Amino acid sequence: MDLENLEGVGPATKHKLVNAGIRSILDIAIRSPQELAGAIGIDLNRAYKLYNKARLKLVEMGKLDAGFVPAIEYYKKRMTIERITTGSKNFDKLLGGGIETQSVTEVYGEYGSGKTQLCMTLCVTVQLPRDKGGLEAKAIYIDTEGTFRPERVAEIAEARGLDPKEALANIIYAKAYNSAHQELLVSEVGSLMEKDGYKLLVVDSAVAHYRAEFLGRGTLADRQQRLNRFMHMLLRIGEVYNVAVVVTNQVQAAPDVFFGDPSRPTGGHVVAHTSTYRIYLRKAGKNRIARMVDSPCHPEVEVPFTITERGIDDLK
Ligand SMILES: Nc1ncnc2c1ncn2[C@@H]1O[C@H](COP(=O)(O)OP(=O)(O)OP(=O)(O)O)[C@@H](O)[C@H]1O
Ligand SMILES: [Mg+2]
Repeated sequence: MDLENLEGVGPATKHKLVNAGIRSILDIAIRSPQELAGAIGIDLNRAYKLYNKARLKLVEMGKLDAGFVPAIEYYKKRMTIERITTGSKNFDKLLGGGIETQSVTEVYGEYGSGKTQLCMTLCVTVQLPRDKGGLEAKAIYIDTEGTFRPERVAEIAEARGLDPKEALANIIYAKAYNSAHQELLVSEVGSLMEKDGYKLLVVDSAVAHYRAEFLGRGTLADRQQRLNRFMHMLLRIGEVYNVAVVVTNQVQAAPDVFFGDPSRPTGGHVVAHTSTYRIYLRKAGKNRIARMVDSPCHPEVEVPFTITERGIDDLK
């Protein structure tokens, strides 16, 4: 995966790439040519060539599909998808067995609906043995709201039979201070993922900084463009490294909805179209309800779950 193995990358280009946080061939492939051009100050033509070269190399190495593939190959790739338990059997059924790798799963809902609780639970369950719904793997957590609580993660780990200290040691945490910092952190994720053992990337919340920074109608297009780039980067990370990516999103009131639930996720079409799965959480008395929205292969159904010391849990 070393940059040296990429024909045409001289020491000067390599230096620029490394300075931009692009340390491997995989790191090139998870960025778009536009991003590469901006990051190392080359024209778009050269950036396209560099990008294509990196993809071809990965195809040679068997890490990526080459454009057209027989559907059977695509099927084989999909067979390598793995699943992480949410902590609730019911909730898992909604997802066809758990949160998938090679996908971006968006979780949205009002405050207190359990989005952050689900993210923290997944950081623990990803570490469980496979016969308990885990992948014996580590997690990366990007927190934009400052609501990650190690004490809570320790509690969930202990309740699920893991050593709390070890469980916390297996989670890499970063607080993102603004949207640019959030993008920088995600661009660093590749070099962490190269070292084996990560199967989960959480961004809680993906949209909040963009929403706070780009106010007013005039900035909407910029915001959507940045958010689009960010979401695509997440999707490529999921695919290239075979990890599950989970992002949270808030809801906003939809004044034009007169029937049904008048709340909808923020981020508009951009987030909607890049997420592979969208799950809507809502409160129902002491319990919670999860609903699968717009899935390519799951029916739109709802399941109840609850939050306990074990994190996300089934109703008694
Ligand atoms: N140890 C616990 N036992 C039971 N329930 C808990 C526990 N800890 C938290 N909760 C429940 O989780 C809720 C908070 O959920 P969470 O923080 O995941 O919401 P959220 O959807 O992330 O909201 P926001 O939009 O504000 O980020 C609390 O209101 C409480 O009902
Ligand atoms: Mg939260």
